[in-house]
Amino acid sequence: MAAKPVRILLGVTGGVAAFKAAELARRLMEHGAQVQVVMTESATRFITPATFQALTGEPVYTDAWDTRIDNLMPHIELSRAADLILVAPATADFMAKLAHGLADDLLSTLCLAREIPLLVAPAMNRQMWENPATRRNAAILAGDGIELLGPTAGLQACGETGLGRMIEPPEIVEATLAFLAPKWLAGKRVLVTAGPTYEPIDPVRGITNRSSGKMGFEIARAARRAGASVDLVAGPVALATPWGVQRHDVRTAIEMNDAVMARVAGADVFIAVAAVADWRIANVSGQKIKKTPDGAPPALEFALNPDILAGVAALADPPYCVGFAAESEALEEHGQKKRISKGVPLLAANIGHQTFGLDENELLLIDEKGTTRLERASKAELAARLIEEIARRLPDASR
Ligand code: C5P
Repeated sequence: MAAKPVRILLGVTGGVAAFKAAELARRLMEHGAQVQVVMTESATRFITPATFQALTGEPVYTDAWDTRIDNLMPHIELSRAADLILVAPATADFMAKLAHGLADDLLSTLCLAREIPLLVAPAMNRQMWENPATRRNAAILAGDGIELLGPTAGLQACGETGLGRMIEPPEIVEATLAFLAPKWLAGKRVLVTAGPTYEPIDPVRGITNRSSGKMGFEIARAARRAGASVDLVAGPVALATPWGVQRHDVRTAIEMNDAVMARVAGADVFIAVAAVADWRIANVSGQKIKKTPDGAPPALEFALNPDILAGVAALADPPYCVGFAAESEALEEHGQKKRISKGVPLLAANIGHQTFGLDENELLLIDEKGTTRLERASKAELAARLIEEIARRLPDASR
């Protein structure tokens, strides 16, 4: 998130999913946002204003006649003080009000009086969502430039299963952050590799490495936030798929290479973050290798894996290729050599020996002009800065 905290006016309307808005408020704050909650009267039947006040440290407003605001115009004052309104959950009734410009309580009034973006996360029973009236209202909201986040399908509080369930708070946070992020890569297609590869020795053993996949996943997330459509080819990692990203799970370097080559046509950017095994076992055993009575170790033979990055860079019409490097010394010199040998315009070298699994990192970007240092920061923040640096270097960059 930007250095200046984003001020989010969180509107909570009266659906059972209102209890999830407490987690949502908390998570938005964890991402650096300032959260001001406004509730409808019926929302207060599901969850109390005191809960939100305790979580956000801000007074909660429900009443258009609240005398805590000097000029008695909370609808104007509150939306002036915010960068964005997020209504979660948004009931069918509230969507109908938004669609028709009704303003009969504080939240609907300040939505009508706003000059800032409005995002809504619908939550309702399946029949209510499918009702033609709600369908019409959803179309009106979309046409009015209101961003609809969800709903999704799943088990509902009424016991039925279907479309109408509010998307989960982490997804709402992600969608909100994506909405706010500068659109450096609008309309671009980005392909990312991440994580380790796993090269089998036999059905139960294999060779892998300690790459956690965190940096690659953050880069995929940041590219998506920046407006790109993103394919993420991931080796075996225990990480959640970033919101809005197409993930393709692979195990071996050969599978990773195949998955990349199948998707590279039409990609604008390729970012190779994966720690790909240089070698695979050539004589993989179909059965578990048994210990022999004399204790002699098995003889493993190795074969060279394809260099995915160099392979993509050598294509006839390659995307803008970005490589990663983990050098332990003479970073710039070795990095520059690696960049040229791989045939890529940009290389990101990890500063420091060991970044595997850590949440922070520091990068030295190396291109034909020289180096740019991205100071130590969380991998999420570094990923956002890297995406901006990449976007500035694209052939059609106007910036
Ligand atoms: O040659 P080295 O492994 O140091 O290069 C690292 C860079 O090359 C990373 O961007 C990595 O994702 C990529 N790479 C690859 N395929 C390989 C080996 C490395 O794409 N077989």
